[in-house]
Amino acid sequence: MIYSSTDGHTKTICEKILNELGDLSQAKLVSLNDAFDLELSDYSQIIIGASIRYGKHSRDLYKFINFNKKLLEQKKGIFFSVNVVARKKEKNTPETNPYIKKFLKISKWKPNKIGVFAGRVDYPSYRLFDKYIIKFIMFITNGPTDTSKSYEFTDWLKVEEFAKELKLAR
Ligand SMILES: Cc1cc2nc3c(=O)[nH]c(=O)nc-3n(C[C@H](O)[C@H](O)[C@H](O)COP(=O)(O)O)c2cc1C
Repeated sequence: MIYSSTDGHTKTICEKILNELGDLSQAKLVSLNDAFDLELSDYSQIIIGASIRYGKHSRDLYKFINFNKKLLEQKKGIFFSVNVVARKKEKNTPETNPYIKKFLKISKWKPNKIGVFAGRVDYPSYRLFDKYIIKFIMFITNGPTDTSKSYEFTDWLKVEEFAKELKLAR
């Protein structure tokens, strides 16, 4: 399981999924950075989780996928995205989330299964510039704007459900 994350929330979601899968001993959780050094063919399943920052998944994510596309297709790789747009009901499925659509278009990879989860806004930990940009985005999208607080939008039951479906598909 590979995570592309800036503030750690995608990693936390990965840990939750692994916990649900109940095979922590066999699974390996690595950052995207470290994943470049892995021998992917040694693994039976590959799951990639990636967060959005300023409208984009990381450039390295696309590099990694491009480099390993054949293997990801052979191994029936799985992908999920973490973003705060997904806190909105009408944008929280792979079919309706704009970042998933963009991801599929750019990566030209067809994951065997796709997930999308709402992330977290942790105002106090952001540097000033990010804090006010996020506050502005939240303001125009009717989200919370109190910069002294953190907001977790993740539906953990949905994450559990995703993990259960992965289990069933094995
Ligand atoms: C600087 C910054 C920019 C962000 N830009 C977006 C964005 O454009 N769209 C969105 O839906 N979420 C955006 N987010 C929300 C993140 O996707 C969310 O905080 C997520 O939980 C981050 O996951 P991570 O901790 O794994 O990096 C942004 C967050 C930060 C801090």
